[in-house]
Amino acid sequence: MELKLEIIEKVKLLDEKYAAMGQDLNSYLEGLLYADYLTYWNYIHLDTLLSLQSPLTNIPDEEIFIMYHQITELYFKLCIHEYKQICNHTALTADYLLTRVNRINRYFDALTMSFDIMSEGMEKEQFLKFRMSLLPASGFQSAQYRMIEIYTTPFTNLMHKDYRGKYAEVPADTEIEKMFEHIYWKEGATELATGKKTLTLKQFEGKYANQIIALAKEYKGNNIWMLYKQLPEADQKNTKLIEALQHLDVNVNINWPLAHYKTAVAYLHKSPEDIAATGGTNWQKYLPPRFQKRIFFPTLWTDAEKEEWGKHWVKKYVFNA
Ligand code: HEM
Repeated sequence: MELKLEIIEKVKLLDEKYAAMGQDLNSYLEGLLYADYLTYWNYIHLDTLLSLQSPLTNIPDEEIFIMYHQITELYFKLCIHEYKQICNHTALTADYLLTRVNRINRYFDALTMSFDIMSEGMEKEQFLKFRMSLLPASGFQSAQYRMIEIYTTPFTNLMHKDYRGKYAEVPADTEIEKMFEHIYWKEGATELATGKKTLTLKQFEGKYANQIIALAKEYKGNNIWMLYKQLPEADQKNTKLIEALQHLDVNVNINWPLAHYKTAVAYLHKSPEDIAATGGTNWQKYLPPRFQKRIFFPTLWTDAEKEEWGKHWVKKYVFNA
């Protein structure tokens, strides 16, 4: 049997490739003779993936809760995959930034749209039972969620409202350590009664504080906002790019938090007194975007838009007003 020309060409190319590394193509070809065919299930590690759900109770809806959190973390990982490529790019262009920010927006759109799986897709009675077995764990402890913020905006924008704007856009490394004490989310995990850090927060900081501070130092000059500002002026005026960045701001700081908040309302809202959150925190006062007013790109918004941050959406979608 005669070998096709294209096969011979490929073998030549392979020979060159392996020779360049001092390797013997013949041995590799022999290896191919014994190698098994790739299967779908091995490629995506399906058995491992499907073995990662370990409910702590035998309440059926807990499986939904676990899997949806896992799905969310995978989407966060997809976002971070893009952030890393943008932030470490050696010759970033507006085009590249736009394409990749759009990818992140798609992931967040998907997460926001699917959040009904949480807010409507579990029985309240079941949820209120199994959540007690999961204490003091909380989605609050999602490190990837906090990392996404650091890749996107200067650290000063992530300070608690009272400390925002008090630090440089690109702070010194020693400053970042001080700033960490005033990061906005510490408020969400402080005990109402005593003002002390909740166990949820203490555990989170024990595991991730150093990593988060290191990330803030690493990306202080090359987060999305700083990179955008380094683009040529004409590119910074590109409407599509500005809209994509605004979309990202709204996605991460309004749409997703509101879909999430709506879920907390669905399960934990109870007259006259709400059901306590994981660490006895006041989630009604902490979670709504209109109170947190986290904004990644403040100068892309008018004062009126910042004033209205998250309000309209709350009325319309959470309380059906
Ligand atoms: C029934 C579903 C859920 C309920 C009732 C709920 C409730 C809450 C509450 C009350 C808090 C405030 C902190 C605390 O005391 O724990 C919180 C924080 C948080 N949860 Fe959830 N959650 C749900 C699902 C999820 C999911 C699926 C994720 C995805 C990872 C998630 C991620 C977060 C994050 C990132 C925070 C911190 C938000 C911030 O700091 O602004 N949650 N959640």
